[in-house]
Amino acid sequence: MTSERQILICQYTNCRANGSEQVLAAFQTQQVAGVAVSACDCQGQCNMGPTVRVLPDNTWYARVQPADVHAIVEQHLKAGEPVERLLHPRLHLRFSV
Ligand code: FES
Repeated sequence: MTSERQILICQYTNCRANGSEQVLAAFQTQQVAGVAVSACDCQGQCNMGPTVRVLPDNTWYARVQPADVHAIVEQHLKAGEPVERLLHPRLHLRFSV
């Protein structure tokens, strides 16, 4: 059976230096049906790591810490609502009027 969605957690040098190994471990302990958890190489957002990316909706999270994983799992992966406070600020521009 293939997963409908994928969550990529960067394990390259800059993200690892900021704790992405622990972020990956946290996602692996909170698996969600239909969502594959994968380590990945550099995503080109090194100054904003640990970088977490959700596919296919292509949501980018920045500076994710292990304590943030529960919110991403419950709010985004289970309920379908991205966690605003963790969205990558340059890749998910928001404008107020
Ligand atoms: S090292 Fe993680 S995005 Fe580049």
